Amino acid sequence: MAIGSLTPENRHRRRRVCALLASAALACAAGGPPARAQSAGAGAVAAAAPDPDALPDDAFGRAVRYGRDLIVHTSALIGPDAPDPAQRYAGNGLECENCHLAAGTKPFGQPLARAWAAFPTFIARDGAVRTLADRINGCLERSMNGRPLAETSAEMAAMLAYLRFLNQRPPGEPANAPPTPPLALPERPLDPAHGAQVFAQQCAACHGQDGLGQRLDARTAAVQRRRYAVPPLWGPDSFNDGAGMARPITAARFIRANMPFGTDPAHPALGVVDAFDVAAFVEAQPRPHFPRRVQDYPDLWLKPVDAAFPPLLGPFSAQQHRLGPWPQIQQWLETNRPKPAAGATGSE
Ligand code: HEC
Ligand code: HEC
Repeated sequence: MAIGSLTPENRHRRRRVCALLASAALACAAGGPPARAQSAGAGAVAAAAPDPDALPDDAFGRAVRYGRDLIVHTSALIGPDAPDPAQRYAGNGLECENCHLAAGTKPFGQPLARAWAAFPTFIARDGAVRTLADRINGCLERSMNGRPLAETSAEMAAMLAYLRFLNQRPPGEPANAPPTPPLALPERPLDPAHGAQVFAQQCAACHGQDGLGQRLDARTAAVQRRRYAVPPLWGPDSFNDGAGMARPITAARFIRANMPFGTDPAHPALGVVDAFDVAAFVEAQPRPHFPRRVQDYPDLWLKPVDAAFPPLLGPFSAQQHRLGPWPQIQQWLETNRPKPAAGATGSE
């Protein structure tokens, strides 16, 4: 979609970005998209991401657009602000888009464009092969601290239709690109006290000193169909401790590539160590607890090194799983991992 043919939705988004950058005292060209986002990231998305509004007004087109709306306006449609309490599945004030940027189309902003082709697949966290609907429900129960949608619901069908429609690689992203660029793991333990300083300097202007985000007043929230201008990073309205974003390596990768909001992943604003330390600070703050977390990763050899909750494999403390250094843990896992029995086929 060319900049000249912005849909109302995109015009709204561009104004929102400018307002946020202004509130964080960053430059924003008058009327145009923010200068930094223009170069490759957001500019490339605006130019080439598939546009649900271009689909015909038939059943599939309507489902795709509803799916897109569910990802952008989650709190208002299937979250705590849904008028019908029976329709409240998401349990916090987040929108899927808060973590799957630009409705899942931003390269390295945890895009959703490859999900349709990737499922069903083995999910180590569940120790089982899962469908795409299962995976969406995983984010509903953890990232959104809520409850699962029925596989047969119109809402699940709509989100699946949207993901099928997106089914391609995000424009400008190389084939097989990970959801966020990998980072070299620090050789020293993360330093949450230094992370607090990074937070005060780089994050608090938008997410608030208290990390609870900028909540919209009820009227604006109803008009924008979002609960927050900037989402909370911890507290009762944020993701729970069973979410992927609650793991420091996942969070550091997302933060370095995408924060402060408007960052072009090709030109990160934060240093690698600053991204890790601020992630450690954010993860140390209170958030809802996911009770089934202890059952995650039934095969402990497949548990990520930064999943710091019990049971843990090997001689390392929970503190080392939480803050690193992780390379020693990785080394230990590699050395001690049981070898597949002779004659076993396949590597997966
Ligand atoms: C707090 C952040 C956050 C929120 C909010 C969130 N997710 Fe996720 N989501 C993640 C992370 C982290 C991953 C794992 C990315 C990875 O490493 O593959 C993920 C993965 C996924 C995947 C699998 C993608 C793939 O290609 O394997 C899907 C599908 C998904 N999310 C859908 C949703 C939907 C739909 C919502 C809203 C109902 C949502 N997510 C809300 C953080 C979030
Ligand atoms: C210019 C304002 C701004 C700044 C500065 C900023 N963020 Fe964000 N952040 C946002 C917005 C807006 C979103 C939601 C993106 C969306 O919905 O498109 C977000 C989303 C997030 C998310 C995922 C959603 C959630 O609530 O967990 C994390 C994690 C995050 N930011 C961390 C940080 C960290 C850490 C910093 C500092 C290094 C930072 N941000 C700086 C505006 C900002």
